Amino acid sequence: MSDLTAVILAAGKGTRMKSTLPKVLHKVGGKPMLMHVVAAATKAGAKRTVTVTGFGGEEVEKALAGKTEFVRQHEQLGTGHAVLQTESLLKGEKGTVIVLCGDTPLVTADLIKKLCAEHEKAGAKATVLTAILPDPAGYGRIVRNADGTVAKIVEHKDATEEELKINEVNSGIYCFAADALFDALHKVTADNAQGEYYLPDTLKILREAGEKVWAATTDDADATMGINSRRQLAEAEKVLRRRKNNELMDEGVTIIDPDTTFIEADVKIGKDTIIRPFTYIEGTTVIGENCDIGPNCRLQNMKIGNNVTGQFTYAHDAVVDDGVVLGQFVHIRPDSHLMEKVKIGNFVEVKNSVVGVGSKLPHLSYIGDTDMGQNVNMGCGTITVNYDGKTKFRTKIGDNAFIGCNSNLVAPVAVADNAYVGAGSTITKDVPADNLAVARARQVNIDHWKDKRK
Ligand code: UD1
Ligand code: CA
Repeated sequence: MSDLTAVILAAGKGTRMKSTLPKVLHKVGGKPMLMHVVAAATKAGAKRTVTVTGFGGEEVEKALAGKTEFVRQHEQLGTGHAVLQTESLLKGEKGTVIVLCGDTPLVTADLIKKLCAEHEKAGAKATVLTAILPDPAGYGRIVRNADGTVAKIVEHKDATEEELKINEVNSGIYCFAADALFDALHKVTADNAQGEYYLPDTLKILREAGEKVWAATTDDADATMGINSRRQLAEAEKVLRRRKNNELMDEGVTIIDPDTTFIEADVKIGKDTIIRPFTYIEGTTVIGENCDIGPNCRLQNMKIGNNVTGQFTYAHDAVVDDGVVLGQFVHIRPDSHLMEKVKIGNFVEVKNSVVGVGSKLPHLSYIGDTDMGQNVNMGCGTITVNYDGKTKFRTKIGDNAFIGCNSNLVAPVAVADNAYVGAGSTITKDVPADNLAVARARQVNIDHWKDKRK
């Protein structure tokens, strides 16, 4: 393939979204729409991507900083005018310029590659990607000559009755020979129903100049879907979700019910892992092999090893090593590290803590800002008291410590290796190794209390 440069149009307002957020920053599959388009272009081999911004430009440029180059279109005078803004950046480029829209997040690297290959094979100056739609309303129509070659593209608002009957539409994705694009754009006029400079007019201009103009048709209409409304956003979400689930299943992940499993684009899952219904796996989460996740889990930016079981769990920005058991009704909060074979049981919250190999927190615990050793047993209802209202303090628990039920460890405090804490204790002083600490009032039994009470 010759040199590929991508231009992505993202200056429009997106009025029909009824949003203060620029349209291309609305998320699908957990990422702004525009991010998907930039990623597809890059994956297809584009050595440069230039995004044309306008409405909400600052916000868009901030969100995509470092991922693409930008050029501003200060007034939105049409798609042709938008591409023209890249002239100063791209003049002199060789090879192919692919033009994409920031609001078509379902476009794939595959589709881009196929279009470029067909463009090159045809030896055309411009190739438009078309799709056949049952309902072509709103799209530009592809008008072909008697010999099948493309004559022009006519916008819905400019079309005659006859032209409106055409159901082959302009997907808004094109390849241009870099050396022909800008000359053609300079010849585009705004003489049409919308008073805009239309990019598709370049095809007619090139053809009339005797150049070859080509159309490639895709049967993957989903991939060309443009998002103009929240309804279409939800449809795109569904398509992306199906694609991601299929991809994972093809790689050996079992998804019990893909319709109720929500896995974002960048998530990675190892083979023979089972994902159960009503589970959300988001952000940069990586899950190992042979895990059993769900039902009802939400995992965000998690790093999870092999053979992990989790149900009814919300875990985010934390690390879970091999063989850990989570759930049910568990909250694992940021900067926690659960080491191998840890068991986190019912109604337990862990925050900013290390839990050592094989330690158990089976029921009703809050563990915050704690460094816990190996094989610790935290009895039911044990709590680290990490906050005095102003400052957070750390708790240290040594290997093999046994913390009796319903104890409070008031930080900063340390329980050393092999130490025991009696049930119901409120520990405010360090407990040395191998000691038993009991910090509760002694029990008093009052003889014949019932009789005396009368
Ligand atoms: C465009 C095509 C139409 C095609 C359809 C496919 C034109 C004139 N029409 O129509 O043939 O069937 O896409 O979805 O190109 N934009 C700018 N600056 C502008 C105007 C638009 O950056 O001045 C951007 C928009 O943000 C959007 C893209 O260009 O990402 C397409 O613009 P839009 O107004 O949505 O064009 P359509 O009417 O959908
Ligand atoms: Ca559009």
